[in-house]
Amino acid sequence: MPFEGASMNKHFLDALSNENFSSRPPVWLMRQAGRYMHEYQAIRKKHTFLDLCYNEELICKVTKMPIDAFGFDAAIVFSDILLLLEVFGVKLSFTEGVGPRLYSEGILRAIDKEQIHKKLSPVYNACRLLKEDLSVPLIGFAGAPFTLLCYLIDGKSSTHFSKALTLLEKSREEFFRQLILVKDAVILHIHAQFEAGCDAVQLFDTWMNLLPKAVIDEYIDTILVDICKNVTGPLLFFSKSISDISILQKIPAQGFSLPANYALTDARRVLGKDVVLQGNFAPELLLEDSSFVVEQVKKIAQTMQHDPSYIFNLAHGILPNTPRKNVEMLVQTIKNL
Ligand code: CP3
Repeated sequence: MPFEGASMNKHFLDALSNENFSSRPPVWLMRQAGRYMHEYQAIRKKHTFLDLCYNEELICKVTKMPIDAFGFDAAIVFSDILLLLEVFGVKLSFTEGVGPRLYSEGILRAIDKEQIHKKLSPVYNACRLLKEDLSVPLIGFAGAPFTLLCYLIDGKSSTHFSKALTLLEKSREEFFRQLILVKDAVILHIHAQFEAGCDAVQLFDTWMNLLPKAVIDEYIDTILVDICKNVTGPLLFFSKSISDISILQKIPAQGFSLPANYALTDARRVLGKDVVLQGNFAPELLLEDSSFVVEQVKKIAQTMQHDPSYIFNLAHGILPNTPRKNVEMLVQTIKNL
């Protein structure tokens, strides 16, 4: 076991089990290892993003960077949700200023555990190595099937993913056939991360809100519920925007990472005291003056301060032009509560 004799920061794990009775919530940020850090920029000058994602030593190095620099209470393994699609034979590339591009040939076929391990072993090996020397818990993650299918079918970033939604219009059966294949791979990927020692896994369904109302129940029942029921550890669910909080009531995840459009206190009332709540500081606010940042961080943190299952986080990923000073101030403000 790692950390024998060393002190392990348990804030995050306490909140995950509804038992954080300290004066402050745990804090980590989505995309906490990224372009806003000069240490990260220096590594990216020498390696492409995908090279980083497939190199276990670099994954470990980048994952630890924000922990050492800011003292976050949890680390998230450095990777990307789109990597899993490469196991299906999809060719993935990332270009500066353009984002991801995905090229796929032929139809989607079922993949097995061996194929996933063959391709993604650097991710799982990095998790094992990280567990040996991190003093904070480790979070793994996966993209949810709908969000992954959006990128797979459209082949690039979008805000409407019209090709994916056109497939749904043309053939609901084919759309769900593909969702199920991706879901089975997502479950295997999550298993592998728990097996490698991750303390929790976050499921990113960034674009779930694009699904038509008439389809959302079937999607939740056949896809998301199945994932939640088949994982062997705590699962946190993220979506970029939620129009109706009652949707979340149907997803049996351990917790929810909320977008900025929903008040945490309202979510607590609707979802009950047993779910973990995470969020939901708008990342754009981190571009403002430090004093304003401190004020806004306090505002959110204080409304949830004595909530034993609350984790401070952003509403979505940190922006690349975020001043480092503001991230320092954010963490210090939480730690001084
Ligand atoms: O949170 C973390 O620090 C862990 C690492 C992580 C990344 N991406 C690293 C990354 C996580 C959890 C993700 C999730 C992810 N990736 C999502 C779901 C959450 C969300 O943001 O909606 C999605 C949709 C992706 C797909 C993706 N990856 C896009 C669309 C892009 C290009 C846009 C962008 O921000 O550059 C990426 C690239 C990416 N993923 C970077 C990082 C650090 C930037 C890579 C670089 O140029 O150095």
